[in-house]
Amino acid sequence: MDFRVTARRGQPDSADAPLLILALAKGATLTPALAAVDNALGGSLKRSLDEKNFRGARDETLFLAGGAKGPKRVLLVGLGSPENLTAALRRAASVGARQARKTGAASLAWYADEQSDAAVEAAAVGLTMGSWEYTTTRSAPPEDERKAELESAQILVSDEARASSAAQRGAAIGAGMNLARQLSMLPGNICTPEFLASTARDIAKRHGMRAEVLGRKEMEAEKMGSFLAVAQGTTQDPKLIVLEHRKGPAGSKPVVLVGKGLCFDTGGISIKAAQGMEAMKFDMCGAAGVLGAMDAIGALNLPINVIGLVGSTTNMPSGDAMKPGDVVQSHLGKWIEIVNTDAEGRLVLCDVLSYARRYDPAAVIDAATLTGACVVALGHTASGVFGNDQSLVDEVLAAGRSSGDTGWQLPLFDDYKDLILTDAADIKNTGGRAAGAISAAMFLKEFTETYPWVHLDIAGTAYSETDLGFIAKGPTGTPVGLFVDFVRGRAH
Ligand code: BES
Ligand code: MN
Ligand code: ZN
Repeated sequence: MDFRVTARRGQPDSADAPLLILALAKGATLTPALAAVDNALGGSLKRSLDEKNFRGARDETLFLAGGAKGPKRVLLVGLGSPENLTAALRRAASVGARQARKTGAASLAWYADEQSDAAVEAAAVGLTMGSWEYTTTRSAPPEDERKAELESAQILVSDEARASSAAQRGAAIGAGMNLARQLSMLPGNICTPEFLASTARDIAKRHGMRAEVLGRKEMEAEKMGSFLAVAQGTTQDPKLIVLEHRKGPAGSKPVVLVGKGLCFDTGGISIKAAQGMEAMKFDMCGAAGVLGAMDAIGALNLPINVIGLVGSTTNMPSGDAMKPGDVVQSHLGKWIEIVNTDAEGRLVLCDVLSYARRYDPAAVIDAATLTGACVVALGHTASGVFGNDQSLVDEVLAAGRSSGDTGWQLPLFDDYKDLILTDAADIKNTGGRAAGAISAAMFLKEFTETYPWVHLDIAGTAYSETDLGFIAKGPTGTPVGLFVDFVRGRAH
């Protein structure tokens, strides 16, 4: 957590670190800086390229031994033939830092020929992401197997003054992503709604934000019948967490970020199968994304008003739990028939989304691990993007592209509304198997009519069941990057 990234004026051949990482694209040639490294290594860099031991393919890595002087070890990391160089640098930096951690290097130096602000920032984001490892509930390896921890990275540049703030920005964004990943990875018995609330208070304290937390009692007073229906099956106090970052002009409408924070989702009475149910600790990744983004937004001190809202509880079966057929009245006043208690995320979010009206939002973006159907539609490559305002959707998609949190729009045609109609109430909380990600979004749309809104279904993108190389198995940090880039885009 205490990983440091700085920009340092210097050439790679004189890097003062146990490990030098060089980012090289496909077909890279030896620029003067790289030729100097090659010289220090006795020609092994050029040989590796000439003999195609290293081709610069995306995610490719090759370790070279250092020479008598200069860096002790060198790691080549491939950028591929990138369409988007900053995205490639972010990814390669993460690959590089993850490799560095395995070697037991306490520090590393990073060098890429491209040194624009965007490139330095991307490298800092990637290095910070790659430095992350979950250790909280794991014992350290025995003394004689323990490696030094990776503590810092230097990004080598020619213009240190300019690159320093870019490196600092990247480190802040990467730290926000890592906070989100840490919260997500924590098990449900540790990361409770109360734990998320105290994390939010901590973020508020560090960045001069206002934090407010509503519990069951306060939500009863607010008549949040839908959120409370989910929470009635658990003895833990549900939390509606509010973080206010008000660094924009007084009176200017805020951006509101909303996160689904189900600290565990058993499905409730409509209980899920046992196989793989442990992954439902990740059902708070939307909330983690909001908290991670607020942490980064605070650290970047962005001149804009942003409100973070998290709806947090657990979905449990119990004698008091909501059951299929129950009808509840939402905070907005609409009546909802609960057909399937496992469609709980939308029941929580709808009340938080109508609560958001009091902030008179310029835009609201929610993130939720909402539907398995979204994973079927888009896999683990893109988040589902839905909205009631096309220009806001386009803005969110662009923030996804620049940050690496890829999204893909799915439609909200009026005809889909039929899927959630019922005789027993105004709407029901499931629409059957067909278009499951869309019917969930159509449900949320019912509560967002008074402001521009986008919904991100991150069920497939918030955590990875396999090691992706540039990112470890487990939580990915999505959509912290998207949120931060969106807010930055609005801040000037
Ligand atoms: N949290 C789940 C969605 C989910 C599934 C996230 C898989 C990540 C991976 C959500 O609360 C849920 O259970 N959704 C149901 C909705 C259905 C009952 C209409 C689903 O997707 O099966
Ligand atoms: Mn569920
Ligand atoms: Zn859920």
